[in-house]
Amino acid sequence: MSQLDNIFEKNVDWVNSVTAEDDKFFERLSEQQTPEYLWIGCSDSRVPANQLMGLLPGDVFVHRNVANMVVHADFNSLSVIHYAVEYLKVKHIIVCGHYLCGGVQGALSGDRFGIVDSWLQHVKDVIGLHKVELDSLEDRAKEDRLCELNAIEQAANVCQSPPVKDAWERGQELNIHAWIYDISDGKLKKLQEPITGPLES
Ligand code: CO
Repeated sequence: MSQLDNIFEKNVDWVNSVTAEDDKFFERLSEQQTPEYLWIGCSDSRVPANQLMGLLPGDVFVHRNVANMVVHADFNSLSVIHYAVEYLKVKHIIVCGHYLCGGVQGALSGDRFGIVDSWLQHVKDVIGLHKVELDSLEDRAKEDRLCELNAIEQAANVCQSPPVKDAWERGQELNIHAWIYDISDGKLKKLQEPITGPLES
C-alpha cells in the first residue's frame, strides 16, 4: 500500500457521503459551474475556502497564493479574475487575508528567504503605504494589522484591475469584499463595507 492510498480511500468515502445526500450531485456539476463567489485567499493549508464558508464544490471559484496578493502585472490572478467576472459572472470577489500569515510575517521580519522575497516585496509595499499606523503598533498587534491592511489593499487592487473596471462600466453587478480569517477560532470578519463601483483615482 502506497503512502497516499488513504487519500484515495477517503475520496471514495466522500463521494459516497455526497451522493447519499444527493445522487445527481456530480452529474449536475459536470454540466456547468455557476459560482457566485470568487475567493482570493492565501495558500496557507489552514485557510480552506470552501470548508470555512460551508460551501460545496461548484459554489466558489478559487485563487490562492502566498499572502493573498493581487499584483497588477500577475497574469495568473488577472486571468482568474477575468474568467470569473466575464464568463462565470460572479457577483462577489472576496479577498480574504488571515492572521498568523507566514507571508506577512516574512515581509515584516526583513529577513531574506529566497525567490519568495520578490513576491513578498508587494507586502512590503503595503507596509510602506501604512508606515505611520504600523509604526505605532508593536509585535502581534502590528502583524495582525498588516494582515488586515494587506487584504484591504489587495481588494483595492482588484477594483483597479481591467476586468473589474470593464464590468462596472457595462453595469454588471459586482461587489468587492475585504475579509480576514482568524485561524485560532475559525471565524471570518469583514474589514470594510463591500465596494460596489469604481474607486476614485
Ligand atoms: Co498566509
